Amino acid sequence: MFKKSIITASFLIASTTIASPAFSADVNNGKTLHQAKCYQCHAEKSGLGNGDIIYTRADRKVQDPARLKFMVSMCNTELRLDLFPEDEADLVAYLNQQFYKFK
Ligand code: HEC
Repeated sequence: MFKKSIITASFLIASTTIASPAFSADVNNGKTLHQAKCYQCHAEKSGLGNGDIIYTRADRKVQDPARLKFMVSMCNTELRLDLFPEDEADLVAYLNQQFYKFK
């Protein structure tokens, strides 16, 4: 009886984890896409030769998760990079894990 409720509880935790978008995103795909499509331009635009600094500079634009999604989507749409929504989600997950670290 007691044992069964523990199993049920951990099953519930496991299934909500899988259902959460933050965990279903593919961070490695995000990283690959970032190197291929985003890094170079950010390196040039920042004038520092490093495409990562744009995310950690003192006056960065992104201050919350909603803004992060918005900026990824804006760079994608504005620049016609032709990414799928899943790719955008993977990029958001990668950027958040690597740089922004929003909860
Ligand atoms: C052709 C150039 C170019 C490409 C390619 C590009 N970006 Fe950007 N991105 C910019 C510029 C310029 C800014 C700074 C905008 C500003 O400061 O107002 C920026 C800013 C951002 C920011 C906000 C950084 C901050 O201040 O916190 C994010 C997030 C971002 N880009 C994501 C991406 C992603 C993801 C990709 C690839 C899918 C991408 N960008 C591709 C030019 C580009």
